[in-house]
Amino acid sequence: MSAPNNSRLPKYLQEVDNLTDECRELISTLPSEMGWLPMFMHFYQGIWYSTRTLKAILQVQHHFRALDSDIVLVSTPKSGTIWLKAILFSLLNRSYYHSNKKVDHPLLRKNPHELVPFLESLHMLDTNPDLSSFTSPRLFATHIPFGSLPESMKNSKCKIVYLCRNPKDTYVSLWQFTNNLLPKETGTTSPLEETFDKFCRGVSMYGPFWDHVLGYYKASLEMPHKVFFLTYEEMKEKPREQLKRLADFLGCPFSEDEEEVDGGVDEILRLCSFNNLSKLEVNQNGKLSTGHENKSFFRKGEVGDWVSYLTPDMIERIDRITEEKFHGSGLKL
Ligand code: A3P
Repeated sequence: MSAPNNSRLPKYLQEVDNLTDECRELISTLPSEMGWLPMFMHFYQGIWYSTRTLKAILQVQHHFRALDSDIVLVSTPKSGTIWLKAILFSLLNRSYYHSNKKVDHPLLRKNPHELVPFLESLHMLDTNPDLSSFTSPRLFATHIPFGSLPESMKNSKCKIVYLCRNPKDTYVSLWQFTNNLLPKETGTTSPLEETFDKFCRGVSMYGPFWDHVLGYYKASLEMPHKVFFLTYEEMKEKPREQLKRLADFLGCPFSEDEEEVDGGVDEILRLCSFNNLSKLEVNQNGKLSTGHENKSFFRKGEVGDWVSYLTPDMIERIDRITEEKFHGSGLKL
């Protein structure tokens, strides 16, 4: 399998050349296919990963040790992860920043991805990163599917907040995001039909999308004290209600004052709103250390944007898959 020519992609998207022997040997045994970008994807433990991500996943599985007090946000890519990162960070740190009016809220200066790191990113930079500087409760994020989580996450009392979104909106958001990653000067985009077909066949970042969602949905039914299941649409429709549910689940419920008098609930929702975050200087002009432009994480932030992109045939196909996959589970997205 010769490496695809991806030299025109930003450095952080090019194929990795420093693979461990373990990773190289593993990849040689896995089904592989070209992804949405000129990069290979590999099918490991029932899920598709780019080479770079697979390397990181193996490190997370080997080295990450969850603590009982940890809180981990898990999501399918493009389900609003950045929004929930901002909300969880604000929720858990609210007493400090709310009572300390002189201190600027970190969300005003930093992108939520900097405040709540992905386990994959931490283990991409360093095989076994030192996490001792994280204060308790440590707050991380990941896209790792339930079946591939490190054992310590399943066996400890750490809490998991899971976020997903309607598959049609997820697909469109992922397609737009991928196109943004392609260098403008090449004038290329990933063709809609081709990437849609891959998405439907499960070949997408951390896909198949439906298997990812079902894994956590079932876990949330079996272990409601451990896994909190939330959708982007629920969060959009009744943000106050969902935020209060989230606070209860995490053991930091809002007081009556915070709910009604003090504005604690509304203040968090306002701070983390699309309107507020997307207009901040850091999110308009800043970049992550990975090279991603912060503005690429804020596009429209709407429910149902797929109507502008998908043909009736595409809608019929994806709806049929969703119905078949979720049949009997009680889950609707
Ligand atoms: P769209 O591309 O549909 O606009 P992720 O963080 O998982 O990558 O998800 C990105 C999606 O969440 C994008 O969706 C983005 O616009 C949307 N988003 C970002 N911040 C948001 C916010 N504060 N509220 C609602 N949606 C938000």
